[in-house]
Amino acid sequence: MSDILRRGRLSKSPDEEMRNYTSSMAADKWIFEADVYVDLAHTLMLEKQGIILKSDGRKILSGLLQIREEGMEKLDFSYEDIHISLESRLIDIIGAEAGGRMHSGRSRNDEVATCIRFALRGELLSLLDDLVALQHVLVSLSRKHLTTVMPGFTHLQHAQPTTFAHHMMAHADALERDIERVISAYSRVNLCPLGAAAFASTGFNLDREMTAKSLGFSKPMTNSMDAVSSRDFLIECAAVFSNIMINLSRMAEELIIWSGQEFNFVELDDTYASTSSIMPQKKNPDTAELMRGKSGTVIGALSALLVTAKGLPLSYNRDLQEATPNIIRSSSVTSASVRMMAGMLSTLTVRADVMQRQAPAGFTSATELADTMVREAKIPFRTAHQIVGTLSRGTSIEPTLEEIDAVSVTVIGEKLSARGLTQKAVKDALDPMENVKRRAVLGGPAPEQMKKSISEKEKRINALESQISGLNAAVENALNGLVSDVQKEIQ
Ligand code: ARG
Repeated sequence: MSDILRRGRLSKSPDEEMRNYTSSMAADKWIFEADVYVDLAHTLMLEKQGIILKSDGRKILSGLLQIREEGMEKLDFSYEDIHISLESRLIDIIGAEAGGRMHSGRSRNDEVATCIRFALRGELLSLLDDLVALQHVLVSLSRKHLTTVMPGFTHLQHAQPTTFAHHMMAHADALERDIERVISAYSRVNLCPLGAAAFASTGFNLDREMTAKSLGFSKPMTNSMDAVSSRDFLIECAAVFSNIMINLSRMAEELIIWSGQEFNFVELDDTYASTSSIMPQKKNPDTAELMRGKSGTVIGALSALLVTAKGLPLSYNRDLQEATPNIIRSSSVTSASVRMMAGMLSTLTVRADVMQRQAPAGFTSATELADTMVREAKIPFRTAHQIVGTLSRGTSIEPTLEEIDAVSVTVIGEKLSARGLTQKAVKDALDPMENVKRRAVLGGPAPEQMKKSISEKEKRINALESQISGLNAAVENALNGLVSDVQKEIQ
């Protein structure tokens, strides 16, 4: 049949290159399912409002179910987008008399905005599941390594002893904020533009509350012009995804350097490694490197979205079509990366012995030694800092009380042993595990404190899990309801 869109106003057909240039069919695979649901909801509403006859409505609904069954492959890919191609297929199946009525009171502008929100909502829900699964991996790794002492770093220089649990829980805390951000973004994604039509709404008496509810959205968007023209929800999600990727990329970077011979703290499972085509001995952390690289793809998508949206006048402009592939790409890369990180960490070999051995290197207990001088010899911290700083110019990372006294005489004219510093206090201060145990303030690495942090975290993960399953259930119930209403209607 002739092109149902162009045959009226336009006299010429586009050539193949022009079609490819303007078509969104490739990206629209992502919204095929959403589009069918949106069509079903819109049709039921048109029928209920008396805008179309029940008999026509039934034909449309059956045709839509057939299209859903056949899948997207049956559609004509020479159309410029899924919406018009699907409508054309419907008209092929049920005829123009009924099929030509489906698009009453609607535009592709509100349709596409609704479809994108519908599909993205699903992606956010599955991303949340992936993120929660990663939280569980981090928590169980931490539980196992409460006393695995390792050097902590600032400026990538050995700084103070900490534990592997403390390090992993730091990443878990960052990712928890990501989860909260996804949930918050979800509340602005899950709004329904349908009924806004091209931008000025419509003279048909639509029930926008009904379509929003049946599609599982929390409510209709208010201003019809804003509903079709805004893509800030895409920018927001891409920013959230970028943040997740930055967190994952930092974790990946650590896995990469820790896998190297210089560190040798961890070994990735063979599944996540690659080898060299020339150097037979190599085991490379490629999965982690790609994760670090793919963060660039996601951040790039955010930039693309920002630039696409900037400077567009209201309301709909075709530029907006270019936004969609960016959110699809950034969402799928982010979810896959979260799953890969969970896989890498849950199969990771942690070399606790190497970490332990390296924990004192670089005089990591220097801060605790200075703190001990403050506590035992009652000198100001700044003075202790100077004494220990002077000591660390030497090669020893285990200064004796005599060495300490020799320096302190040059700094304050007095021996610290004369002020109450004992050999035992010095020895304890130099013990990495003792350092860790003493860091027992809220958020510190002391095993007792970490146990508390982990239990608190588990409680919060549980709460997030029930919040997420509530979101899933709301969508599922709405869509099941919609499908059963459709089935009742066509019986
Ligand atoms: N493929 C289009 C998009 O993604 C659908 C809306 C087309 N609207 C229009 N007025 N040409 O934005």
